[in-house]
Amino acid sequence: MKPVVWIPVLIALAVLLAGFGYVGWSKSGPGAGLYSRLWQPDTVFSYWNPKPFYKSVQTVEGLFKGEECIECHESLTPGIVKDWRASKHAKQEKPVYCSSCHGSDHQSLHMPTPDICANCHKAQHDQFLDERRYGFPSHALAMERALDSKHFADKPKAEVASCLQCHSVATKCDSCHTRHRFDAAEARRPEACITCHSGPPHPDDEAYFASAHGKKYLTEGDKWDWSKALVKGNYPAPTCAYCHMRNGKHQVADKAIWKFGLKEINQHKGENVVKRQSWIAVCMDCHKQTESEKWLRNLDLERKRAWQKLYKAEDVLEALRGDGHLSPAAGKRPHYPIEWIDKLWPRARIGLLEGQASAFYNVSKIERDYFEMWYFANLRAYKGAAHGAPKLVDEGHKRMREALKDIKAEAQILDRLGKKEVGMGKPFDPKPLWTTGEYTSKNAEAN
Ligand code: HEC
Ligand code: HEC
Ligand code: HEC
Ligand code: HEC
Ligand code: HEC
Ligand code: HEC
Ligand code: HEC
Ligand code: HEC
Repeated sequence: MKPVVWIPVLIALAVLLAGFGYVGWSKSGPGAGLYSRLWQPDTVFSYWNPKPFYKSVQTVEGLFKGEECIECHESLTPGIVKDWRASKHAKQEKPVYCSSCHGSDHQSLHMPTPDICANCHKAQHDQFLDERRYGFPSHALAMERALDSKHFADKPKAEVASCLQCHSVATKCDSCHTRHRFDAAEARRPEACITCHSGPPHPDDEAYFASAHGKKYLTEGDKWDWSKALVKGNYPAPTCAYCHMRNGKHQVADKAIWKFGLKEINQHKGENVVKRQSWIAVCMDCHKQTESEKWLRNLDLERKRAWQKLYKAEDVLEALRGDGHLSPAAGKRPHYPIEWIDKLWPRARIGLLEGQASAFYNVSKIERDYFEMWYFANLRAYKGAAHGAPKLVDEGHKRMREALKDIKAEAQILDRLGKKEVGMGKPFDPKPLWTTGEYTSKNAEAN
């Protein structure tokens, strides 16, 4: 082979190896995930993400049998033992003792990760891992998703610690049936989900309780027999788990078309048509096929309407950026601390494809307005439409209309100011104001 051929091949290989080396190096810090070198774990992280962070620091020494754990802990942690006694784990002929989950050696106890439960609940664990096939979002991938978010590594820890609390749904199995009751009935109720599925970017809570289904649950749910499995005929109206985990399948990602709702998708794509069929099958436990299809088609129509508004706002921002009138522009404000590319090549980033993370950091007013339109108003309308809550659809679209109006008005002002600045000897430079501000310096130090 001539050198002209193998020199580029060698360079490509070296770059590839360096890339792998770099990722490996960034993952080997005191934290976890892609930015592990940039933060230190808090002590609570040892419970939320036990695999990398839990260290057993015990004063008690010895290997104990299951019964012995109970004897000691009966007075030490009475609440835990009481819950355990009420659980199916205690009521087995051969009880599932503390040691089955935490280990027998008190000097090296562990906090049970999903693979510990898998020793006895392989089916549920396999279904849960199967979510990985469908990509983000999913419960199985939730922890790495949070850890690998730039805003998790960038912002002061006090502001972002709770990311891991919700995203711990990936790293332990007690999110829906809580320890130490591990009660399936608890997990079937909507309350099991809404500790995490609520708030502006994912108002599933608000949407469900505003729907006909949620109303029925609120009115008569306390009389339903929650010991029954989530299968056709057992419940008069569906709960979160009924629809998303029907037949007890521990897999919440296999039917999702619109997913988080952050980008427009093609609902006519082959795999999406198949997924939609599986949703219609859920509704048909209680509704007619034609009705079910119609409702879900309405969701798609609502999404189309939302994206028409969002694209209009994006166009306004992109035009401003094109004319150099976005202010303060990227480069004139702190770059994303861990984004060295941003420092070399500052860019305002608009929408999901260009970078969601930037929207969580210092941006101009107009970018923030767009972010709130996209991340809060849009997702409110989406979750309303998905869950049969017209109130949220109306509110979401009303807010989107208002945001679009504000964005257009602000763009006119910025445009006018931008044009005025041309021809003024030395235009005002906002860079010092933004890049050495108190919040910025404090952030840089505190993280
Ligand atoms: C002699 C009494 C005694 C026995 C027996 C005992 N423990 Fe403990 N355990 C303790 C004490 C005391 C603590 C509080 C932490 C410490 O000081 O070591 C504790 C703490 C724990 C914790 C909390 C660890 C943490 O980091 O939050 C777990 C889990 C635990 N024990 C499980 C077990 C299991 C499982 C067994 C049986 C294999 C067991 N214990 C047997 C006394 C005991
Ligand atoms: C079926 C598995 C299982 C059994 C059995 C079990 N635990 Fe746990 N335990 C867990 C899980 C899951 C957690 C939460 C782990 C985490 O937060 O990372 C936990 C957490 C704990 C904690 C620390 C957090 C807290 O709630 O204070 C203690 C202490 C504890 N268990 C003690 C016990 C004792 C004592 C027993 C026996 C009576 C027991 N466990 C039986 C699964 C189990
Ligand atoms: C040593 C085996 C073993 C381990 C480890 C174990 N379990 Fe279980 N679990 C059982 C048995 C046995 C039952 C009762 C089976 C039944 O009712 O069909 C049960 C029942 C359950 C139930 C159903 C309770 C109900 O109300 O019907 C849940 C939920 C559960 N386990 C969750 C967990 C979780 C989560 C973990 C890990 C933190 C875990 N288990 C670890 C053996 C185990
Ligand atoms: C401890 C917090 C927590 C609890 C409890 C919880 N979830 Fe989640 N859920 C999450 C997180 C975090 C994500 C997003 C993960 C990611 O970033 O990829 C998620 C994602 C989802 C998704 C999106 C899947 C997709 O493909 O778009 C569905 C559906 C879902 N959860 C349903 C439920 C249901 C139903 C319940 C209750 C039975 C529930 N969750 C309970 C934290 C939780
Ligand atoms: C109140 C619980 C909660 C908190 C706190 C939380 N999340 Fe989430 N997060 C969720 C849920 C639920 C979803 C999935 C929503 C859906 O699919 O509709 C999600 C989705 C995500 C996604 C999108 C997954 C994807 O690929 O589309 C990312 C990234 C994410 N969260 C990161 C974070 C970070 C970083 C933080 C901390 C700043 C955080 N989350 C705080 C519950 C939470
Ligand atoms: C998002 C909420 C959620 C999470 C996370 C979750 N479960 Fe469950 N789990 C449920 C629901 C809901 C049921 C009741 C299913 C039904 O009615 O058929 C259940 C039931 C169970 C049962 C009893 C099954 C039966 O047929 O009696 C076991 C065992 C179980 N889960 C194990 C696990 C294990 C292991 C994990 C972690 C890999 C886990 N769960 C995580 C919601 C959850
Ligand atoms: C009547 C069935 C039903 C009920 C009840 C229900 N959902 Fe949904 N959910 C849906 C449908 C349908 C979608 C949109 C699916 C699509 O097209 O992607 C959806 C979307 C979601 C999504 C976005 C990811 C995805 O799967 O598309 C999350 C997260 C979610 N629901 C959580 C919840 C929570 C939490 C509750 C309870 C508070 C709940 N849902 C109640 C049917 C239901
Ligand atoms: C377990 C039974 C059950 C399942 C499953 C179910 N529903 Fe319902 N649904 C009901 C009940 C009960 C009502 C309230 C009575 C009524 O209006 O028919 C209702 C009402 C509704 C309404 C309001 C009807 C109106 O006229 O105002 C909509 C929309 C709806 N459901 C959509 C769905 C969709 C979409 C699915 C599937 C993703 C679904 N439902 C799954 C039981 C169910």
